[in-house]
Amino acid sequence: MTALPSHPSSQEDLVHVAIIMDGNGRWATQRGLPRAAGHRQGMEAVRATVDASKELGIGYLTLYGFSSENWKRPESEVRDLMGLLRLYLRREIRELHEGGVRLRFIGNRDRLAKDIVRLIDEAEAMTQSNARLNLTIALSYGSRDEILGAVRETVAKVQAGELSVEALDEHTFSRMLSTVEIPDPDLVIRTSGEQRLSNFLLWQSAYAELIFTECYWPDFGREQLSQAMEEYRGRERRYGAAIA
Ligand code: FPP
Repeated sequence: MTALPSHPSSQEDLVHVAIIMDGNGRWATQRGLPRAAGHRQGMEAVRATVDASKELGIGYLTLYGFSSENWKRPESEVRDLMGLLRLYLRREIRELHEGGVRLRFIGNRDRLAKDIVRLIDEAEAMTQSNARLNLTIALSYGSRDEILGAVRETVAKVQAGELSVEALDEHTFSRMLSTVEIPDPDLVIRTSGEQRLSNFLLWQSAYAELIFTECYWPDFGREQLSQAMEEYRGRERRYGAAIA
């Protein structure tokens, strides 16, 4: 959703935090461990961050779990990451459900293994009535690909006479993205010191505050999240408006 607030201010509530989880590999290398160990510890950081988000009253948390570019990694690493995802879904789903978490997945499911797609479908169906925390995991996700999909849908609707070109606006267009029903992120955090968006929620993050932290993802948790929230609250969001 892209409607802009009518009264921009620094007191906006922080509703949606999106995180680019980066640095698992470096965390492991620094310790003389295989990269897989970094990803395993990264999964623990996902648990900690989800718990902290619930405690800190965040309504929406979106995590970049696997980008469309990550398929280019060595086959063994892709296998490790997919294995961890299976483990996460099998092990955590009940607890997430009981804790009131609604799970959603965005990204291209065509490349995912069938059993993972099944786990994802089950998790979404099981948790669809939950509302304490909306957890979205971006898997095999790329923002440009998502935007192109919405453009294709727009053109098809126009050609079918279901949408006029004049009626196309930001709101109509954003309803064709995979994040329909999810508000735009207020804050995007990237760990590990890299300062890029890497094809993550490009349309949706148009007005997001960006915070880059040196912390490697496996070390991220409640303390780092609440520090980022504090920094966010100190910023003035103007959405292009003039300084009052
Ligand atoms: C970036 O570290 C992290 C990833 C590519 C994947 C994130 C995956 C997890 C946290 C594992 C579990 C995921 C879920 C959703 C349960 P990197 O490997 O790019 O690190 P580097 O830049 O230091 O090499």
